[in-house]
Amino acid sequence: MTGVPGFDDLDVDQLSARAGAKWAQATAEGLIPSWVADMDFPVAPEVRRALCERIESSDLGYPDWFRGTPLRAEFSRRMASRYGWEPDPDAVREQTDLIQALQIVLHLATTRGDSVAIQTPNYPPFLSTLRRMGLQQIDFPFVDTGSGWALDFDTFERSVARYRPRVLILVNPHNPTGRVHTRDELERIADIAERFDILVVSDEIHAELIYEPHRHIPFASLGPEVAARTVTITSASKAFNLAGLRCAVVHYGPTGLLSRRDGEPFDLYGTVSVPGVVATLAAWQHGDAWQTDLIRVLDRNRRRVHDRLGAEVPAARHHLPEATYLSWVDAGALGVEDPVARVGERGGILVEGGQRFGRDYRSHVRINFATSEALLGRILDGVTAGLTEGGRRKAPPAN
Ligand SMILES: Cc1ncc(COP(=O)(O)O)c(C=O)c1O
Repeated sequence: MTGVPGFDDLDVDQLSARAGAKWAQATAEGLIPSWVADMDFPVAPEVRRALCERIESSDLGYPDWFRGTPLRAEFSRRMASRYGWEPDPDAVREQTDLIQALQIVLHLATTRGDSVAIQTPNYPPFLSTLRRMGLQQIDFPFVDTGSGWALDFDTFERSVARYRPRVLILVNPHNPTGRVHTRDELERIADIAERFDILVVSDEIHAELIYEPHRHIPFASLGPEVAARTVTITSASKAFNLAGLRCAVVHYGPTGLLSRRDGEPFDLYGTVSVPGVVATLAAWQHGDAWQTDLIRVLDRNRRRVHDRLGAEVPAARHHLPEATYLSWVDAGALGVEDPVARVGERGGILVEGGQRFGRDYRSHVRINFATSEALLGRILDGVTAGLTEGGRRKAPPAN
């Protein structure tokens, strides 16, 4: 597959002129960006049309959402049609983004000094949230089995028994490893949560960026008891590239927690904007065909990353992501002191450094492959040049 219109015809000059963080920060340093999790592709035409129509109509006054936005019912419909899970729309609330949603739940469900478990590595703002809220981080680590990333349940169970975390933050599909948890894994997690009475916050923001034959299973869909201890947080922002519009949904399984949230002053947690809701509705109602094309392009790109790293930097550890447009690469065997600086200086590419994803990941980098075929080629030229020059190339091939 070459040259997919709307995905592979990106103009670097136009991208470089963007004000968004991904391109602005890289361009200021004279680099091509492959870092923050935004895609380079134009937003789906259906979403652009809906936004333009709303702006053209000047219908930008106070929205008529006194009993919630239409996203509550739409989220419920999407979960039912995609996964056979039928969340109650009345238990859905809107927040500007997932970090805010997580912080509200932690604010309501924990006190300073409590333990909170989280898979490691993990999305950096979640880790800094725990630090800033004075919560003790309990690691649920991934280990490299040689054929993929697997959760280390033994370590986790020991930590849970010892530190008794109040909450588990479960990111599934997972950033940065790209793992999609199987039903067996999720049921094992649910069993631990049940035995130790842990509230689960399930971040499913990457659920629609998934590759065959993997299947997303909403954690709360495992059964009524699991749903009753699960808060699900998600949005259209990753799968439709709308992060700047600040619009997310939160489904509260635990009724007591929802009552506490609703007992707060009406505007304390802010509210979402008309463009955010209009775009999310358009994406969920009319964006499926665009998303099918997107997944084909991303599937090609993930294989390209995997193949080139395997061929040109065989000592780097890397597994084909099962979801997301992010590749997690362990450059530890290459003997490179600071892989981000090396890839920047010698390759001209800005990648995300592993140390932000947890204390043990200094030797890792995360690559964002949501871009055109040509730009991905340049990114991979830069990454392989940065990682190979002066590095050892003799180790066995990565899986
Ligand atoms: C796992 C995960 N959760 C949440 C987010 C960000 O969500 P938001 O911008 O809605 O806070 C990201 C962004 O990349 C992410 O990867």
